Amino acid sequence: MNKKKVTQLKSFDFNAPLSSHDWKKAVRHLNDLLEQKNISEAKLYCQKILDLDHASDQRNSKAPHLKRPGFKFSFDEIIGQSSKMLKVLNALERIIPTDIPVWIQGESGTGKELIARALHFNHPKRKQHAFMTENCSAIPENLIESLLFGYVKGAFTHAERDKEGIFEAADGGTIFLDEIGDMPLSMQSKLLRVLQEKEIRRVGSNEAIPIDVRVLSATNKNLSQMVQQGTFREDLYFRLNGFKLAIPPLREHKEDLPELCEFFLKKYASKGDPSWSIEKSALEALIQYAWPGNVRELENTIHNAMLFSEKNVVNLKSLVFKTEIFEKPDEVKSANPVSSSQVDRVFVSQNTQDEDREPREAILDAMEKAGFHKGKAAKELNITTRHLYNLLERYGLPKNKWVLKRLLQEERG
Ligand SMILES: Nc1ncnc2c1ncn2[C@@H]1O[C@H](COP(=O)(O)OP(=O)(O)OP(=O)(O)O)[C@@H](O)[C@H]1O
Ligand SMILES: [Mg+2]
Repeated sequence: MNKKKVTQLKSFDFNAPLSSHDWKKAVRHLNDLLEQKNISEAKLYCQKILDLDHASDQRNSKAPHLKRPGFKFSFDEIIGQSSKMLKVLNALERIIPTDIPVWIQGESGTGKELIARALHFNHPKRKQHAFMTENCSAIPENLIESLLFGYVKGAFTHAERDKEGIFEAADGGTIFLDEIGDMPLSMQSKLLRVLQEKEIRRVGSNEAIPIDVRVLSATNKNLSQMVQQGTFREDLYFRLNGFKLAIPPLREHKEDLPELCEFFLKKYASKGDPSWSIEKSALEALIQYAWPGNVRELENTIHNAMLFSEKNVVNLKSLVFKTEIFEKPDEVKSANPVSSSQVDRVFVSQNTQDEDREPREAILDAMEKAGFHKGKAAKELNITTRHLYNLLERYGLPKNKWVLKRLLQEERG
Protein backbone atom coordinates (compact mmCIF):
# COMPACT_ATOMS: atom_id res chain seq x y z
CA MET A 1 0.00 0.00 0.00
CA ASN A 2 1.21 3.50 -0.79
CA LYS A 3 1.28 4.93 2.75
CA LYS A 4 2.34 8.41 1.63
CA LYS A 5 -0.68 8.76 -0.66
CA VAL A 6 -3.08 7.67 2.08
CA THR A 7 -1.70 10.30 4.44
CA GLN A 8 -2.03 12.93 1.74
CA LEU A 9 -5.64 12.04 1.15
CA LYS A 10 -6.40 11.93 4.83
CA SER A 11 -5.03 15.40 5.24
CA PHE A 12 -7.50 16.80 2.68
CA ASP A 13 -9.61 19.53 4.20
CA PHE A 14 -12.31 17.10 5.27
CA ASN A 15 -14.14 19.60 7.43
CA ALA A 16 -17.83 19.90 8.26
CA PRO A 17 -20.55 20.28 7.01
CA LEU A 18 -20.47 16.56 6.06
CA SER A 19 -20.82 14.61 9.30
CA SER A 20 -17.71 13.11 10.84
CA HIS A 21 -19.26 9.69 10.29
CA ASP A 22 -19.54 10.41 6.54
CA TRP A 23 -15.95 11.53 6.43
CA LYS A 24 -14.71 8.46 8.27
CA LYS A 25 -16.58 6.26 5.83
CA ALA A 26 -15.14 8.18 2.90
CA VAL A 27 -11.58 7.93 4.18
CA ARG A 28 -12.04 4.19 4.81
CA HIS A 29 -13.27 3.69 1.27
CA LEU A 30 -10.37 5.72 -0.10
CA ASN A 31 -7.94 3.59 1.86
CA ASP A 32 -9.46 0.46 0.34
CA LEU A 33 -9.15 1.88 -3.17
CA LEU A 34 -5.53 2.85 -2.57
CA GLU A 35 -4.73 -0.52 -1.10
CA GLN A 36 -6.05 -2.01 -4.32
CA LYS A 37 -3.83 0.53 -6.16
CA ASN A 38 -6.96 1.76 -7.92
CA ILE A 39 -5.65 5.33 -8.16
CA SER A 40 -7.97 6.60 -10.92
CA GLU A 41 -11.06 5.40 -9.02
CA ALA A 42 -9.67 6.98 -5.82
CA LYS A 43 -9.21 10.29 -7.61
CA LEU A 44 -12.78 10.22 -8.92
CA TYR A 45 -14.15 9.31 -5.51
CA CYS A 46 -12.20 12.12 -3.92
CA GLN A 47 -13.57 14.65 -6.41
CA LYS A 48 -17.11 13.39 -5.77
CA ILE A 49 -16.79 13.96 -2.04
CA LEU A 50 -15.37 17.42 -2.48
CA ASP A 51 -18.25 18.35 -4.80
CA LEU A 52 -20.72 17.04 -2.25
CA ASP A 53 -19.07 19.09 0.47
CA HIS A 54 -19.11 22.20 -1.69
CA ALA A 55 -22.83 21.79 -2.46
CA SER A 56 -23.58 21.24 1.21
CA ASP A 57 -21.59 24.38 2.05
CA GLN A 58 -23.70 26.36 -0.37
CA ARG A 59 -26.94 24.94 1.04
CA ASN A 60 -25.86 25.90 4.52
CA SER A 61 -24.70 29.36 3.56
CA LYS A 62 -26.20 31.41 6.41
CA ALA A 63 -27.46 34.50 4.65
CA PRO A 64 -27.49 34.24 0.87
CA HIS A 65 -30.07 37.05 0.72
CA LEU A 66 -27.64 39.45 2.28
CA LYS A 67 -25.37 39.98 -0.68
CA ARG A 68 -24.99 43.72 -0.59
CA PRO A 69 -24.75 45.35 -3.95
CA GLY A 70 -22.41 48.31 -3.94
CA PHE A 71 -20.13 46.92 -1.23
CA LYS A 72 -16.73 45.56 -2.11
CA PHE A 73 -16.17 43.60 1.06
CA SER A 74 -18.17 40.78 2.54
CA PHE A 75 -20.41 41.75 5.44
CA ASP A 76 -22.54 38.61 5.32
CA GLU A 77 -22.72 38.24 9.08
CA ILE A 78 -23.46 41.89 9.81
CA ILE A 79 -27.16 42.59 9.53
CA GLY A 80 -28.43 46.11 9.02
CA GLN A 81 -29.93 48.21 6.26
CA SER A 82 -30.79 51.20 8.47
CA SER A 83 -29.05 54.49 7.73
CA LYS A 84 -27.05 54.17 10.98
CA MET A 85 -25.77 50.68 10.14
CA LEU A 86 -25.06 51.63 6.51
CA LYS A 87 -22.95 54.50 7.83
CA VAL A 88 -20.92 51.97 9.84
CA LEU A 89 -20.53 49.66 6.82
CA ASN A 90 -19.51 52.55 4.55
CA ALA A 91 -16.84 53.56 7.05
CA LEU A 92 -15.73 49.91 7.28
CA GLU A 93 -15.32 49.72 3.49
CA ARG A 94 -12.92 52.63 3.61
CA ILE A 95 -10.81 51.55 6.57
CA ILE A 96 -10.61 47.79 5.93
CA PRO A 97 -7.71 47.86 3.44
CA THR A 98 -5.64 50.26 5.57
CA ASP A 99 -3.52 49.61 8.65
CA ILE A 100 -5.05 52.43 10.68
CA PRO A 101 -5.68 51.49 14.32
CA VAL A 102 -9.43 51.46 14.92
CA TRP A 103 -11.18 52.21 18.16
CA ILE A 104 -14.58 50.55 18.16
CA GLN A 105 -16.97 52.22 20.53
CA GLY A 106 -20.41 50.96 21.47
CA GLU A 107 -22.58 49.68 24.27
CA SER A 108 -22.38 46.06 25.33
CA GLY A 109 -23.77 43.63 22.74
CA THR A 110 -23.81 46.09 19.82
CA GLY A 111 -21.46 43.95 17.72
CA LYS A 112 -18.01 45.40 18.39
CA GLU A 113 -16.25 42.05 18.08
CA LEU A 114 -18.25 41.23 14.95
CA ILE A 115 -17.00 44.48 13.39
CA ALA A 116 -13.42 43.76 14.50
CA ARG A 117 -13.62 40.37 12.75
CA ALA A 118 -14.93 41.99 9.58
CA LEU A 119 -11.96 44.37 9.68
CA HIS A 120 -9.50 41.49 9.92
CA PHE A 121 -11.09 38.83 7.71
CA ASN A 122 -11.60 41.26 4.81
CA HIS A 123 -8.09 42.75 4.94
CA PRO A 124 -6.31 41.72 1.73
CA LYS A 125 -3.06 40.68 3.45
CA ARG A 126 -3.76 40.38 7.16
CA LYS A 127 -6.55 37.85 6.74
CA GLN A 128 -3.88 35.26 5.88
CA HIS A 129 -2.43 35.72 9.36
CA ALA A 130 -3.87 35.37 12.83
CA PHE A 131 -6.67 37.37 14.43
CA MET A 132 -5.96 37.44 18.15
CA THR A 133 -8.32 38.87 20.72
CA GLU A 134 -7.69 39.68 24.34
CA ASN A 135 -10.11 40.94 26.93
CA CYS A 136 -8.07 43.37 29.04
CA SER A 137 -10.55 43.30 31.91
CA ALA A 138 -10.26 39.55 32.32
CA ILE A 139 -6.49 39.37 32.95
CA PRO A 140 -4.91 40.00 36.37
CA GLU A 141 -2.49 42.96 36.29
CA ASN A 142 0.59 40.82 36.99
CA LEU A 143 -0.11 38.50 34.04
CA ILE A 144 -1.08 40.96 31.36
CA GLU A 145 2.44 41.81 30.18
CA SER A 146 3.56 38.19 29.77
CA LEU A 147 0.28 37.37 28.03
CA LEU A 148 0.63 40.21 25.53
CA PHE A 149 4.40 40.11 24.95
CA GLY A 150 5.43 36.59 26.04
CA TYR A 151 8.31 35.63 28.34
CA VAL A 152 11.61 33.77 28.38
CA LYS A 153 12.57 30.78 30.49
CA GLY A 154 13.43 31.84 34.05
CA ALA A 155 11.70 35.24 33.79
CA PHE A 156 9.62 34.32 36.84
CA THR A 157 9.08 31.31 39.11
CA HIS A 158 6.97 29.15 36.81
CA ALA A 159 8.51 30.27 33.51
CA GLU A 160 9.96 26.87 32.59
CA ARG A 161 10.28 27.57 28.87
CA ASP A 162 10.15 30.47 26.40
CA LYS A 163 6.62 31.44 25.41
CA GLU A 164 5.37 33.85 22.78
CA GLY A 165 2.69 36.40 23.62
CA ILE A 166 -0.35 37.29 21.58
CA PHE A 167 1.42 40.18 19.82
CA GLU A 168 3.93 37.74 18.34
CA ALA A 169 1.18 35.24 17.55
CA ALA A 170 -0.69 37.96 15.65
CA ASP A 171 2.38 39.03 13.65
CA GLY A 172 1.25 39.98 10.13
CA GLY A 173 -2.38 39.91 11.31
CA THR A 174 -4.61 41.78 13.71
CA ILE A 175 -4.93 42.07 17.45
CA PHE A 176 -8.21 43.06 19.07
CA LEU A 177 -7.86 44.51 22.56
CA ASP A 178 -11.31 44.36 24.09
CA GLU A 179 -12.29 46.41 27.17
CA ILE A 180 -9.16 48.52 26.66
CA GLY A 181 -10.51 50.98 29.27
CA ASP A 182 -9.73 48.35 31.95
CA MET A 183 -6.04 48.14 31.10
CA PRO A 184 -3.96 49.20 34.13
CA LEU A 185 -1.99 52.47 33.73
CA SER A 186 1.37 50.68 34.17
CA MET A 187 0.53 48.45 31.20
CA GLN A 188 -0.77 51.34 29.14
CA SER A 189 2.71 52.89 28.94
CA LYS A 190 4.25 49.55 27.87
CA LEU A 191 1.61 49.13 25.18
CA LEU A 192 2.22 52.68 23.96
CA ARG A 193 5.94 51.95 23.57
CA VAL A 194 5.21 48.80 21.56
CA LEU A 195 2.86 50.68 19.26
CA GLN A 196 5.41 53.47 18.73
CA GLU A 197 8.45 51.26 18.21
CA LYS A 198 6.67 48.37 16.46
CA GLU A 199 8.70 45.87 18.44
CA ILE A 200 8.16 43.89 21.60
CA ARG A 201 10.41 42.53 24.31
CA ARG A 202 9.43 39.31 26.02
CA VAL A 203 9.32 39.53 29.81
CA GLY A 204 12.82 38.71 31.11
CA SER A 205 14.57 39.54 27.83
CA ASN A 206 16.15 42.63 26.29
CA GLU A 207 15.97 41.34 22.78
CA ALA A 208 13.67 43.49 20.61
CA ILE A 209 11.42 41.46 18.31
CA PRO A 210 9.93 43.42 15.41
CA ILE A 211 6.19 42.95 14.95
CA ASP A 212 3.72 44.01 12.30
CA VAL A 213 0.28 44.04 13.88
CA ARG A 214 -2.85 46.08 13.23
CA VAL A 215 -4.37 47.08 16.55
CA LEU A 216 -8.11 47.27 17.05
CA SER A 217 -9.51 48.19 20.41
CA ALA A 218 -12.94 48.42 21.94
CA THR A 219 -14.65 49.61 25.04
CA ASN A 220 -18.07 50.60 26.20
CA LYS A 221 -16.48 53.11 28.56
CA ASN A 222 -16.08 56.80 27.84
CA LEU A 223 -12.33 56.91 27.13
CA SER A 224 -12.12 60.67 26.61
CA GLN A 225 -13.69 61.15 30.03
CA MET A 226 -11.17 58.66 31.45
CA VAL A 227 -8.38 60.71 29.85
CA GLN A 228 -9.69 63.83 31.59
CA GLN A 229 -9.86 61.95 34.89
CA GLY A 230 -6.28 60.72 34.42
CA THR A 231 -7.20 57.02 34.37
CA PHE A 232 -6.34 56.55 30.69
CA ARG A 233 -3.19 57.87 29.00
CA GLU A 234 -3.94 60.62 26.51
CA ASP A 235 -1.06 59.65 24.18
CA LEU A 236 -2.27 56.03 24.06
CA TYR A 237 -5.82 57.24 23.48
CA PHE A 238 -4.71 59.16 20.37
CA ARG A 239 -2.52 56.28 19.17
CA LEU A 240 -5.40 53.77 19.35
CA ASN A 241 -7.96 56.20 18.04
CA GLY A 242 -6.68 56.37 14.45
CA PHE A 243 -10.29 56.00 13.47
CA LYS A 244 -13.26 55.95 15.80
CA LEU A 245 -16.03 53.63 14.72
CA ALA A 246 -19.17 54.16 16.77
CA ILE A 247 -21.69 51.29 16.67
CA PRO A 248 -25.24 52.44 17.40
CA PRO A 249 -27.30 50.82 20.14
CA LEU A 250 -30.16 48.67 18.83
CA ARG A 251 -32.81 51.11 20.10
CA GLU A 252 -31.44 53.61 17.56
CA HIS A 253 -31.81 51.28 14.57
CA LYS A 254 -34.93 49.29 15.29
CA GLU A 255 -35.65 49.31 11.56
CA ASP A 256 -33.14 46.42 11.44
CA LEU A 257 -34.98 44.37 14.04
CA PRO A 258 -37.19 42.38 11.62
CA GLU A 259 -34.17 41.36 9.56
CA LEU A 260 -32.14 40.55 12.66
CA CYS A 261 -34.96 38.27 13.89
CA GLU A 262 -35.05 36.54 10.53
CA PHE A 263 -31.28 36.08 10.65
CA PHE A 264 -31.28 34.58 14.16
CA LEU A 265 -34.22 32.28 13.32
CA LYS A 266 -32.08 30.88 10.49
CA LYS A 267 -28.96 30.80 12.63
CA TYR A 268 -30.54 28.68 15.37
CA ALA A 269 -32.89 26.53 13.27
CA SER A 270 -31.65 22.97 13.36
CA LYS A 271 -29.87 22.21 10.09
CA GLY A 272 -30.81 25.69 8.84
CA ASP A 273 -34.51 24.71 8.60
CA PRO A 274 -36.00 27.62 6.58
CA SER A 275 -39.57 27.06 7.80
CA TRP A 276 -39.12 29.05 11.02
CA SER A 277 -41.11 32.24 11.27
CA ILE A 278 -42.22 34.84 13.76
CA GLU A 279 -45.77 36.08 14.15
CA LYS A 280 -46.48 39.72 13.51
CA SER A 281 -47.74 40.32 17.06
CA ALA A 282 -44.54 38.86 18.53
CA LEU A 283 -42.39 41.01 16.25
CA GLU A 284 -44.38 44.08 17.22
CA ALA A 285 -43.84 43.28 20.91
CA LEU A 286 -40.08 43.03 20.27
CA ILE A 287 -40.14 46.38 18.50
CA GLN A 288 -41.79 48.04 21.53
CA TYR A 289 -38.86 47.13 23.77
CA ALA A 290 -35.72 49.26 24.30
CA TRP A 291 -33.12 46.39 24.20
CA PRO A 292 -30.59 47.63 26.79
CA GLY A 293 -28.47 44.54 26.04
CA ASN A 294 -28.62 45.35 22.31
CA VAL A 295 -28.26 42.73 19.57
CA ARG A 296 -26.87 40.12 21.97
CA GLU A 297 -30.02 40.37 24.10
CA LEU A 298 -32.19 40.06 20.99
CA GLU A 299 -30.18 37.06 19.77
CA ASN A 300 -30.57 35.28 23.13
CA THR A 301 -34.28 36.11 23.21
CA ILE A 302 -34.92 34.64 19.76
CA HIS A 303 -32.84 31.56 20.56
CA ASN A 304 -34.74 30.94 23.82
CA ALA A 305 -38.11 31.68 22.20
CA MET A 306 -37.34 29.02 19.58
CA LEU A 307 -36.76 26.46 22.30
CA PHE A 308 -40.21 27.26 23.66
CA SER A 309 -42.05 27.41 20.33
CA GLU A 310 -44.26 24.89 18.65
CA LYS A 311 -44.55 24.19 14.94
CA ASN A 312 -41.55 26.38 14.14
CA VAL A 313 -43.46 29.58 14.86
CA VAL A 314 -42.33 32.15 17.42
CA ASN A 315 -45.42 33.85 18.83
CA LEU A 316 -46.27 35.87 21.94
CA LYS A 317 -46.60 32.68 23.92
CA SER A 318 -43.00 31.74 23.15
CA LEU A 319 -41.94 35.15 24.50
CA VAL A 320 -43.76 35.03 27.83
CA PHE A 321 -40.47 34.12 29.61
CA LYS A 322 -39.15 37.57 28.63
CA THR A 323 -41.46 39.63 30.83
CA GLU A 324 -39.41 42.83 30.40
CA ILE A 325 -40.71 43.04 26.84
CA PHE A 326 -44.22 43.51 28.12
CA GLU A 327 -43.35 45.45 31.26
CA LYS A 328 -40.80 47.97 30.06
CA PRO A 329 -41.79 49.40 26.69
CA ASP A 330 -39.32 51.76 25.03
CA GLU A 331 -40.15 55.32 26.03
CA VAL A 332 -38.56 56.79 22.92
CA LYS A 333 -41.25 55.39 20.69
CA SER A 334 -41.38 57.76 17.78
CA ALA A 335 -37.61 58.01 17.27
CA ASN A 336 -37.33 54.96 15.04
CA PRO A 337 -40.62 53.91 13.62
CA VAL A 338 -40.50 50.54 11.92
CA SER A 339 -42.62 50.61 8.80
CA SER A 340 -45.38 48.05 8.47
CA SER A 341 -43.82 46.81 5.23
CA GLN A 342 -40.66 45.97 7.18
CA VAL A 343 -42.74 44.00 9.65
CA ASP A 344 -44.77 42.33 6.91
CA ARG A 345 -41.63 41.25 5.08
CA VAL A 346 -40.74 38.93 7.94
CA PHE A 347 -44.27 38.08 8.91
CA VAL A 348 -44.56 34.81 7.06
CA SER A 349 -46.65 32.73 9.39
CA GLN A 350 -50.00 31.86 7.86
CA ASN A 351 -51.64 30.40 10.92
CA THR A 352 -51.74 33.33 13.30
CA GLN A 353 -54.53 32.85 15.78
CA ASP A 354 -56.25 35.86 17.26
CA GLU A 355 -56.00 34.51 20.77
CA ASP A 356 -52.22 34.37 20.45
CA ARG A 357 -51.98 38.07 19.74
CA GLU A 358 -51.80 39.26 23.35
CA PRO A 359 -49.76 37.87 26.23
CA ARG A 360 -52.95 38.07 28.29
CA GLU A 361 -54.50 35.51 25.97
CA ALA A 362 -51.43 33.30 26.17
CA ILE A 363 -51.70 33.29 29.96
CA LEU A 364 -55.42 32.45 29.81
CA ASP A 365 -54.72 29.63 27.37
CA ALA A 366 -52.09 28.14 29.63
CA MET A 367 -54.32 28.44 32.72
CA GLU A 368 -57.21 26.78 30.95
CA LYS A 369 -54.99 23.99 29.65
CA ALA A 370 -53.59 23.42 33.15
CA GLY A 371 -57.08 23.19 34.68
CA PHE A 372 -56.46 26.59 36.36
CA HIS A 373 -53.57 25.16 38.37
CA LYS A 374 -51.02 27.98 38.56
CA GLY A 375 -47.98 25.74 39.06
CA LYS A 376 -48.85 23.64 36.00
CA ALA A 377 -49.71 26.73 33.93
CA ALA A 378 -46.35 28.30 34.83
CA LYS A 379 -44.64 25.09 33.72
CA GLU A 380 -46.57 25.20 30.45
CA LEU A 381 -45.32 28.77 29.92
CA ASN A 382 -41.78 27.90 31.04
CA ILE A 383 -41.80 30.53 33.76
CA THR A 384 -41.80 30.43 37.54
CA THR A 385 -45.07 30.51 39.51
CA ARG A 386 -44.03 33.84 41.02
CA HIS A 387 -43.60 35.18 37.47
CA LEU A 388 -47.07 33.97 36.60
CA TYR A 389 -48.51 35.80 39.61
CA ASN A 390 -46.81 39.01 38.42
CA LEU A 391 -48.21 38.53 34.93
CA LEU A 392 -51.74 37.92 36.25
CA GLU A 393 -51.48 41.17 38.15
CA ARG A 394 -50.00 43.01 35.18
CA TYR A 395 -52.83 41.96 32.88
CA GLY A 396 -55.54 42.59 35.47
CA LEU A 397 -56.47 38.92 35.70
CA PRO A 398 -57.94 37.49 38.92
CA LYS A 399 -55.68 35.18 40.91
CA ASN A 400 -58.52 33.12 42.31
CA LYS A 401 -59.00 30.11 40.04
CA TRP A 402 -62.82 30.10 40.25
CA VAL A 403 -63.09 33.80 39.43
CA LEU A 404 -60.65 33.35 36.58
CA LYS A 405 -62.59 30.35 35.28
CA ARG A 406 -65.81 32.38 35.30
CA LEU A 407 -64.12 35.28 33.53
CA LEU A 408 -62.88 32.94 30.84
CA GLN A 409 -66.34 31.44 30.38
CA GLU A 410 -67.79 34.92 30.01
CA GLU A 411 -65.10 36.02 27.53
CA ARG A 412 -64.92 32.90 25.44
CA GLY A 413 -68.39 31.50 25.93
N1 LIG B 1 -25.47 43.77 13.22
C1 LIG B 1 -25.43 42.50 13.64
N2 LIG B 1 -25.82 41.52 12.81
C2 LIG B 1 -25.82 40.22 13.22
N3 LIG B 1 -25.40 39.82 14.43
C3 LIG B 1 -24.99 40.76 15.29
C4 LIG B 1 -24.98 42.16 14.95
N4 LIG B 1 -24.52 42.85 16.00
C5 LIG B 1 -24.25 41.95 16.96
N5 LIG B 1 -24.52 40.70 16.54
C6 LIG B 1 -24.41 39.46 17.32
O1 LIG B 1 -24.63 39.79 18.68
C7 LIG B 1 -23.74 39.10 19.54
C8 LIG B 1 -22.93 40.10 20.34
O2 LIG B 1 -22.03 40.77 19.47
P1 LIG B 1 -20.52 41.15 19.92
O3 LIG B 1 -19.95 40.08 20.79
O4 LIG B 1 -19.76 41.48 18.69
O5 LIG B 1 -20.87 42.43 20.79
P2 LIG B 1 -19.88 43.35 21.65
O6 LIG B 1 -20.21 44.75 21.30
O7 LIG B 1 -18.47 42.91 21.44
O8 LIG B 1 -20.38 43.05 23.12
P3 LIG B 1 -19.57 43.27 24.53
O9 LIG B 1 -19.41 44.75 24.71
O10 LIG B 1 -20.51 42.71 25.54
O11 LIG B 1 -18.29 42.53 24.42
C9 LIG B 1 -22.88 38.22 18.64
O12 LIG B 1 -23.42 36.90 18.58
C10 LIG B 1 -22.96 38.91 17.29
O13 LIG B 1 -22.77 37.99 16.24
MG1 LIG C 1 -17.09 42.08 22.87
